[in-house]
Amino acid sequence: MKKIIITIDGYSSCGKSTVARQLAKELNYIFIDSGAMYRAITLYFLQNKVNLHDEAAVNTALAAINLSFVFNATTGKSDMYLNEVNVEIAIREMYISDNVSTVAADAAVREFAVAQQRKIGEQKGIVMDGRDIGTTVFPNAELKIFMTADIDVRVERRYKEVVAANAGITREEVKQNLAMRDHLDSTRAISPLRKADDALVLDNSNLTMAEQLTLVLQWVNERIQ
Ligand code: DC
Repeated sequence: MKKIIITIDGYSSCGKSTVARQLAKELNYIFIDSGAMYRAITLYFLQNKVNLHDEAAVNTALAAINLSFVFNATTGKSDMYLNEVNVEIAIREMYISDNVSTVAADAAVREFAVAQQRKIGEQKGIVMDGRDIGTTVFPNAELKIFMTADIDVRVERRYKEVVAANAGITREEVKQNLAMRDHLDSTRAISPLRKADDALVLDNSNLTMAEQLTLVLQWVNERIQ
């Protein structure tokens, strides 16, 4: 059967990764969480106090970064590795979420991440989620999905995800972080978040996981026949 590239873009905490991971499992495809790459770069920049306004420092830092995804048999998911260290938990912390959109807006950072994402895509049979995957990384992808959901539904989902790792966090803080990232991600100069003209919209505010998967698999089947 024909192997294709599936892109899933959308706002923060719409459940993109959950749908992408399930879909990849169903199709026996590789799932790539491109946001994890920007988060790992942000972690490195914060750890090494890289000044985003210093182009030479940014380039030196990027040259020292090695990103990889390694399958974790315990969780059944791939973990993000930064220079051979598992950073899957560290990159989900709130201080990374607070800084990632600024780092991800940098031209050199995007060039670095996009080059790696395209390389992974050469093998086809992938589902990649992010903000600019259908518009910039794979403009010729066979199936492009743009996901969206009600802000309050997104806050509740995200809150449940982050509360364990961020004791004392409030729903209001989560809401502010989501709103800030949506704003920064969709107004930045390079590859802003926007729906590709040929993307299909999936609003999952009122859909169960099973309903989402059924719908998306139908879209896939129409394209791999
Ligand atoms: O998917 P996520 O929330 O983990 O992504 C974290 C941030 O990374 C997001 O706020 C914007 C940035 N990002 C991006 O600019 N382009 C992508 N393809 C994926 C994520």
